[in-house]
Amino acid sequence: MDGNGRWAKKRGLPRRKGHAAGADAAKALVTECRSLGIEYVTLYTFSKENWDRPKGEIRAIFDLLVRFLKQELDTLVEQDIRLHILGETAELPLATRKAVKFVCAKTAKCVSMTLNLALNYSGRDEILLACEKLLQSGIKPRDLTEEMFKNQLHTAGQPDPDLIIRTSGELRLSNYLLFQAAYSELYFTDTLWPDFDKAELHKALSDFAGRKRRFGKTSEQTGP
Ligand code: FPP
Repeated sequence: MDGNGRWAKKRGLPRRKGHAAGADAAKALVTECRSLGIEYVTLYTFSKENWDRPKGEIRAIFDLLVRFLKQELDTLVEQDIRLHILGETAELPLATRKAVKFVCAKTAKCVSMTLNLALNYSGRDEILLACEKLLQSGIKPRDLTEEMFKNQLHTAGQPDPDLIIRTSGELRLSNYLLFQAAYSELYFTDTLWPDFDKAELHKALSDFAGRKRRFGKTSEQTGP
């Protein structure tokens, strides 16, 4: 959800107003994805690296998130959307931890869509943590499979992302789902996140629909 700060700056507003507009855009995107039948959506909400931001901005982001979770709980349940967190929740502020725990528990049985929030997330840390857990389990190196490794990631049991959208003109992954993104299609747009509306989503989806995904095979093997 990149570009909130620049969106605010362009309007002479404080950065937190950009994040508030970003939260509105997130809500609209999730609603549209749900009505399109998309089963998994992940929002890169707060990376481990984001702790280096000014304290006031960090507080504003977590306040917004708690408000969002409280406001949207009934809709999530009505829409049968399960909330799941990717990241290390133990290090989050107490109020955030509580809200996240509450909403995850209340939506645990929802099956139509999973909404992942990457929170206090780092792709490299996720991989290291998986290694740590596997080493502790005493598994023999030759018995290790890709499936076993995937089961130690925050996304255990979920498919890899088909499409990763990065807004605001930045052309990198920034430590996002590094293991899972091996064969994801990437879509980059200059649009700032608060302006990434339904029309922008459809533009990204139709671009994705035109991609040829070969997963390493030849075009003769995969067809036109
Ligand atoms: C990146 O834009 C945005 C963030 C680090 C925070 C995103 C968080 C929210 C929108 C809070 C609410 C969350 C949900 C799920 C409702 P940036 O600040 O890096 O923008 P810039 O690159 O233009 O400065």
